[in-house]
Amino acid sequence: MDHGNNGLTRAEGFMRAALALLATATCCLSFTSSGAFAADEKSLSEKLVDSFNALSGGPHPGFRANHAKGILATGTFTSTEIAASLSKAPHLQSVTVPVMVRFSNGTGVPNLPDANPNASPHGIAIRFTLPDGTFTDIVAISFNGFPVATPEDFLGLLTSVAASGPDAPKPTPIEQFLGSHPAALKFVTAPKPAAASFATLPFYGVNAFKFTNAQGVSEYGRYQIIPVEGDQRLSDKAAEAMSPNYLMEELPARLAAGPVVFRLVAQLAKKGDSTTDPTSVWPDERPQIDLGEITLTGPVANDAEVQKATMFNPLALPDGIGASEDPVLLARPGAYAVSFGQRLK
Ligand code: HEM
Repeated sequence: MDHGNNGLTRAEGFMRAALALLATATCCLSFTSSGAFAADEKSLSEKLVDSFNALSGGPHPGFRANHAKGILATGTFTSTEIAASLSKAPHLQSVTVPVMVRFSNGTGVPNLPDANPNASPHGIAIRFTLPDGTFTDIVAISFNGFPVATPEDFLGLLTSVAASGPDAPKPTPIEQFLGSHPAALKFVTAPKPAAASFATLPFYGVNAFKFTNAQGVSEYGRYQIIPVEGDQRLSDKAAEAMSPNYLMEELPARLAAGPVVFRLVAQLAKKGDSTTDPTSVWPDERPQIDLGEITLTGPVANDAEVQKATMFNPLALPDGIGASEDPVLLARPGAYAVSFGQRLK
């Protein structure tokens, strides 16, 4: 079997999982046939959120359209001395600031079992409270890379999954999409073994940011959030035996026994690396700056209420950290705001 066929066979595995998810979305076919996707008066952000909702059988009142199932933790971030050489951002000046972190499962399905393949990539959202009381956020996933380079292609990916029900003629829209978007095929077919714990998953920022230091020197970088206890996964057999909420239950138990620690790292771009295409993963040999330590120490009171009331925003940035021109990054706050507005209704 050649590489391409092998890739498509594994892609079919993903598609079966995606279609199983679709089967739970009783509204989606009528939703699609009602023409909601084609409603020209809707913004791209609204269409993207509609697509997540269609795939998850949502909107689910009170929940995010994507990464719906999650849990919060609280702690601190202490920056290294070297962090200030990259950026003049206030939390990177050898200080300790409070953080709130939200770990999540992928998809907009609020009760998705934690070991379900669609729960991965998982998410991490980190809110740093800055010394002046304002905040900045990092929002990252447990996979290094993104399936598409533009928000328009992301809409194409989501709508083609939604249109690939059991009765869809072959090649189905998702087969056609993956056949013409190699990065998306790579993303969906890459092995993503179930996590042993949120505390032992590495996360990747995927989008580039422009870091500027006090001397006015700028460099592009991408965040990595690396667990100090290493990347720990379950075998498929062990994952099958896990309870539907094992990740959400394990984190508070682990925190009760001691802190959970991650290193915050910036991987720096070299000349020629794309800072605008999140499908283009930079080589591992690129320089990495250790920005500091995230130490999580406890749960957050009223977890569900706080999750609902909080919108993490990857473009909430302090002086010293700027957005890149990555169109996926630039599209995110608009879609997040639509989802936030829906869950507050
Ligand atoms: C055009 C591209 C994207 C779209 C349309 C999109 C859409 C969304 C939406 C609608 C939400 C729910 C937000 C809320 O209700 O507060 C969300 C959450 C999230 N997204 Fe994205 N996203 C995109 C790209 C990305 C990328 C590149 C990453 C990571 C590298 C990412 C990671 C996450 C995570 C971790 C969450 C959960 C945040 C939380 O815990 O509040 N997304 N996304």
